[in-house]
Amino acid sequence: MPEKILVIFAHPLLEKSRVNKQLIRFYKERGNITLQDLYELYPDFNIDVEHQKELLTEHNLIILHHPLYWYSCPPLMKQWIDMVLEVGWAYGPGGDALNGKQMMQVITSGARKAAYTESGRNHHSLREFLLPFEQTAMLCGMTYLPPYVIHGTHRLSNDDIRTYSEELSALLDLLSAGVPTGEATTGADYFNELLKEDL
Ligand SMILES: Cc1cc2nc3c(=O)[nH]c(=O)nc-3n(C[C@H](O)[C@H](O)[C@H](O)COP(=O)(O)O)c2cc1C
Repeated sequence: MPEKILVIFAHPLLEKSRVNKQLIRFYKERGNITLQDLYELYPDFNIDVEHQKELLTEHNLIILHHPLYWYSCPPLMKQWIDMVLEVGWAYGPGGDALNGKQMMQVITSGARKAAYTESGRNHHSLREFLLPFEQTAMLCGMTYLPPYVIHGTHRLSNDDIRTYSEELSALLDLLSAGVPTGEATTGADYFNELLKEDL
């Protein structure tokens, strides 16, 4: 059975985006994917929590897709996490609505991968910066899959962006057919490695 995928997407300045504007086109073409463009839906930050909870219930793979802003997500995605993942529903006593679902992130980052190393400019790996997301998924009983990451966005040519878009499309094919879990994803820093592509 194809996976039902919910994409929670946040980009505060989509009209100025080069990379994400191209990437999100693929979500709209697929019947099993529901795209929630948070800044389009909730520009006043007034999120319809009950609707988002219904969507989460109906889907088994949740993708958080965002550009990396100050080592984290844009503020409306944080607002979504804060408002929607309620105690007693997503976690805590009786909070089992998300148990057994899977979560992953699709992230674009201005810096190169080499900057996210101990000796690099950011001194830590991207996975270390993403620990709050990983632990949030785990607290809610979800499996956190390795993120799909596009580094060095400022240097990408239009051809590079097209190539990444095609790779993301191939990733969606794979995920739609049933997410590889357990050993298939254990040990990989990024999902990119599982697609056997250079970063
Ligand atoms: C406010 C702001 C904060 C940013 N913080 C980071 C960061 O912490 N690390 C990083 O690698 N890139 C950072 N960037 C670069 C963005 O991640 C990059 O411009 C974006 O992913 C490109 O995608 P787009 O063309 O869709 O906007 C930041 C950009 C902005 C505007």
